[in-house]
Amino acid sequence: MIEARKLAERLPGDFVFGVATASFQIEGASKADGRKPSIWDSFSNMPGRVFGRHNGDVACDHYNRLEQDLDLIKSLGVEAYRFSVAWPRIIPEGTGPVNERGIDFYDRLVDGLKARGIKAFATLYHWDLPLALMGDGGWTARTTAYAYQRYAKTVIARIGDRLDAVATFNEPWCSVWLGHLYGVHAPGERNMDAALAALHFTNLAHGLGVEAIRSERADLPVGIVINAHSIYPGSTTAEDKAAAERAFDFHNGVFFDPVFKGEYPEGFLAELGSRMPQIEDGDMATIAQPLDWWGLNYYTPMRVSSDPTPDAEYPATTNAKPVSSAKTDIGWEVYAPALGALVETLNARYALPECYITENGACYNMGVENGIVDDQPRLDYIADHLSVTADLIAKGYPMRGYFAWSLMDNFEWAEGYRMRFGIVHVDYETQVRTIKKSGHWYKELAEQFPKGNHKAA
Ligand code: FCB
Repeated sequence: MIEARKLAERLPGDFVFGVATASFQIEGASKADGRKPSIWDSFSNMPGRVFGRHNGDVACDHYNRLEQDLDLIKSLGVEAYRFSVAWPRIIPEGTGPVNERGIDFYDRLVDGLKARGIKAFATLYHWDLPLALMGDGGWTARTTAYAYQRYAKTVIARIGDRLDAVATFNEPWCSVWLGHLYGVHAPGERNMDAALAALHFTNLAHGLGVEAIRSERADLPVGIVINAHSIYPGSTTAEDKAAAERAFDFHNGVFFDPVFKGEYPEGFLAELGSRMPQIEDGDMATIAQPLDWWGLNYYTPMRVSSDPTPDAEYPATTNAKPVSSAKTDIGWEVYAPALGALVETLNARYALPECYITENGACYNMGVENGIVDDQPRLDYIADHLSVTADLIAKGYPMRGYFAWSLMDNFEWAEGYRMRFGIVHVDYETQVRTIKKSGHWYKELAEQFPKGNHKAA
């Protein structure tokens, strides 16, 4: 087992330790104080979409337990908290009236963080699109990007003064491809044309959001959080290597190239460009505005082979076998070196700003026994990935912080409540929170920061 103190010595003194959550996954109170449904409310209420037909009506009841949850965060010794703002609380119909009571909640949240000396890292969009916007096509409609811009401006005008950083989007890969091509996430669409429209309008919304945020608060560090994929060919054949390149463009390039280079990847455009929605003059420049930071969410590598089926749709890949036999309870391969390779590859391909690991963690479902949750494999997972992060810093990569996913067990999207990622256990019957073994270890580590060994700039 990696000792917290030994690991701490390998990290710079100003490295930020935090915990992360997202609004729909923890808040509950789905009908309180003027909130209206999001696409995740309707999706989870539909049979066959979410495991056990679980939904977000109660979740961790965080909306009603804000103060005690902020105390919990404080008790974990972390310097920062990453949370998301629920658009359906702020502008419940997507466009139209602003709901002051919804904003009040986040006002109290950021005040509560400041009062406890904890940095606030806000995400503006973690997948809970106001359902009313589906009437216009949701993310497949250009108008949604403008609705998002207004929402972003509204939030920053009210709470931006107390934020330490803001992200426009969390994991557009999920809301675009999982939501519109693979049908696994809301709105559950399985259609390439819809997905391509969602892709461009999400990218556009990111750019419009950056503008909106800066127009309100020029000094607030703005970024985007991407679940970049660490992609490996399933074999050394030329076919599989080419498949891995296509997969890179499709899973990473379509987000990184627009944001960091102002263009879509060539190979992707050659195959699917004719099916993209209209890209208007100025769109790419809007999307490519320089960012202050970016967030990486990493869990598991992606291994691909070339799909031999003659009409296979681009990127024409199939899943290849894991190399590590270690898997978490959600079935994801555990392979920490892929995190290092990913950061190196991305920095070689793009001029990236400084990076926070905005999510990393593992699903293990053990419960409370005699008041204790012994989740040693989660502790090991986090320690191994932090060790890789320390190696990256030693090589000169600007890794500035790490947020454990998640503060506590929560609504794990299509898997409902059965998959647990928390470093704190939640008993959904009683809402009792129990800090797991990994949480105690994380606290020991986090408490040592910030410390006095800052390297001179
Ligand atoms: C990421 C999501 C986060 C959580 C983790 C396990 O894709 O951003 O909300 O569900 O996976």
